[in-house]
Amino acid sequence: MSTLTIGAPQTAAVGTVTLGDLVVNRLGYGTMRITGRGIWGPPENRLEAVRILHRAVDFGVNFIDTADSYGPHIAEELIAEALHPYPADLVIATKGGWERVGPGKWTHNASPKHLEEAVHGSLNRLRLDCIPLYQLHIPDPAVAFEASIETLVRLKEQGKIRHIGLCNISMDYLERARRLTPIVSVQNRYSFADREWDYLLDHCDQNGIAFIPWAPLGQARHGHEVLEHIARELDATPKQVALAWLLRRSPSTLPIPGTSNMEHLEENLATTVLELPDDAFRQLSAVEHPPISLRG
Ligand SMILES: NC(=O)c1ccc[n+]([C@@H]2O[C@H](COP(=O)([O-])OP(=O)(O)OC[C@H]3O[C@@H](n4cnc5c(N)ncnc54)[C@H](OP(=O)(O)O)[C@@H]3O)[C@@H](O)[C@H]2O)c1
Repeated sequence: MSTLTIGAPQTAAVGTVTLGDLVVNRLGYGTMRITGRGIWGPPENRLEAVRILHRAVDFGVNFIDTADSYGPHIAEELIAEALHPYPADLVIATKGGWERVGPGKWTHNASPKHLEEAVHGSLNRLRLDCIPLYQLHIPDPAVAFEASIETLVRLKEQGKIRHIGLCNISMDYLERARRLTPIVSVQNRYSFADREWDYLLDHCDQNGIAFIPWAPLGQARHGHEVLEHIARELDATPKQVALAWLLRRSPSTLPIPGTSNMEHLEENLATTVLELPDDAFRQLSAVEHPPISLRG
């Protein structure tokens, strides 16, 4: 275990990132892990999930990522149960367009009708009048992408959504969406060991769009011997080093590590006191490169 531990609310120590007119601390919390196994059903320990949400906010987390499909509905309900009425600075980001139909099973559904129902469902479960950030979970191959985005634009005009974000997209989708409406965030899988979306992160950086890396801890990827070596040298844990790399990679990154374990939450949030030296950053950056064919 690392000597880097958290003593007081301090996620502000890693700076902030903007989402349109909203400003949040750059280390958030992802709620996909506070559901049952296979992201299905309620968590084994509901009380612990509620405590974790409280703890995250107590330690300065003011960006919480969720989705209607986590559970489904469970993560959104837990957020409301734990934190409503919400602190004024808390930004809840939810998503729709990718349904959970069984343990480990996803189904696309980003039709205008479904997205409209999904937004109303999330508003109810989260007990909000307006969702601060609503993200299209993934483009639906059976629905015109523009039709999905235009639906979100309409909901934004009606005051149900404040800002629109996109997940699991390429540059082409991002630019098509931006022709219709401002996009404040992109959420794709990314870590030191998973660099396919490097070019998209750089593009977000250049255009004032937050980049929210999912699977930020680089689990189940390679490069872990480098991570462990650096962690030993810095007296940190490998997970903290993985997060510190993301925070240093670009001022636009907003990692949202997810956990159902209080010790892990505290360990992850303690990354805010870890500064990654130049050499460690270089070593981790050399673990994986984006495929040349995918560079912008
Ligand atoms: N947009 C999308 O399509 C999409 C897809 C996936 C995820 N997400 C979002 O991104 C968030 C993070 O993604 P993720 O959950 O896939 O990846 P992650 O945060 O990189 O990893 C979570 C996993 O790592 C474990 N873990 C967390 N902290 C740890 C620590 N300090 N030490 C050891 N193990 C630790 C967790 O288990 P324990 O519970 O045991 O700690 C869990 O199994 C999700 O919660 C969700 O909000 C979005």
